Amino acid sequence: MDYNIAVLPGDGIGPEIVEQAIKVLKAIGNKKGHTFNFTYGAVGAAAIDQEGDPFPAGTLQLCMKSDAVLFGAIGDPKYDNDPKARVRPEQGLLAMRKQLGLYANIRPVTTFSSLIHKSPLRKDLVEGADFVVIRELTGGIYFGDKGRSEDLNTAFDNCVYTRSEIERILELGFEYAAKRNKRLTVVDKANVLATSRLWRETAQDMTPSHPEIEVDYMFVDNAAMQIIQWPKKFDVMVTENMFGDILSDEASVITGSLGLLPSASVGIHTSVFEPIHGSYPQAAGKDIANPIATILSAAMMLEIALDLTSEAQAIRDVVERSMSEGVVTEDIAEGKSFKTSEVGDWLAANL
Ligand code: IPM
Ligand code: MG
Repeated sequence: MDYNIAVLPGDGIGPEIVEQAIKVLKAIGNKKGHTFNFTYGAVGAAAIDQEGDPFPAGTLQLCMKSDAVLFGAIGDPKYDNDPKARVRPEQGLLAMRKQLGLYANIRPVTTFSSLIHKSPLRKDLVEGADFVVIRELTGGIYFGDKGRSEDLNTAFDNCVYTRSEIERILELGFEYAAKRNKRLTVVDKANVLATSRLWRETAQDMTPSHPEIEVDYMFVDNAAMQIIQWPKKFDVMVTENMFGDILSDEASVITGSLGLLPSASVGIHTSVFEPIHGSYPQAAGKDIANPIATILSAAMMLEIALDLTSEAQAIRDVVERSMSEGVVTEDIAEGKSFKTSEVGDWLAANL
């Protein structure tokens, strides 16, 4: 079959890691008789430079008419240290999420046995850890009213959630738990925040219609501690936007490198697949960044958006092999390390 993929490489290492995922997609397409038509669009700092807008209208149109979006990374240090910048690359990512209605971000945390020794945690704690963080992506403090007082000495960010926003993301959490080990952890700060109390109330209302799922509730500070202390305890974790942002970065290091974890953002319109790491500007153009998170995001794209399950599994298998055979970038290499492009070439050739 033919599939139309929008490719948004973005900033920093984005272009080079996305290029490796495309090599791998082309290879699996050749092998299984699929054609992927890749159309590139601008996003982030790159789009600000070209068009003055971090998520231009043309990019939205491209995403809307595609079967899936493959996204690299966003962010440029020239904006990070300029709190007065009028437009910021990150606004492009947020606009994309909002305009495509991507209310759920799915971040699987899995370990690779050949990399366990790279984890900052003890092997016995990490081995076999396997859970999914489901992060609400279009609500909460990210999208509430924000502003500054006239004298500029006061600032605010509102956190707002509606019951229906909470219900749809929890429903997805229940669905994932049903497909997995039937445990759902709802993470909130209901001891302090009104929005969190609405989350908890909504979850409690929904629990009776999912009798097969064991639901527990955890305050976010406690969850941050337990992820490190006992990562194997979790199955599916569902939480609001900012807690999910923080907890998923924390969870990613359990596996040994931030360069390994993929994500899918799904919702109303075209789904977006992207690595959970950032644009790593220090490495941009050096051919050293780890492309695996992006390649595994492409595998999630095949499975979730295009229903190509065996193709997705073939990619995961060859990634696993590259790790056990040591064909990896310097962040996870033991002795000899490979370039970003060499890892991509090896994966494409060995599929
Ligand atoms: C992420 C990132 C983004 C977020 C940034 C770049 C706006 O950290 O996707 O987790 O905070 O959502
Ligand atoms: Mg983040």
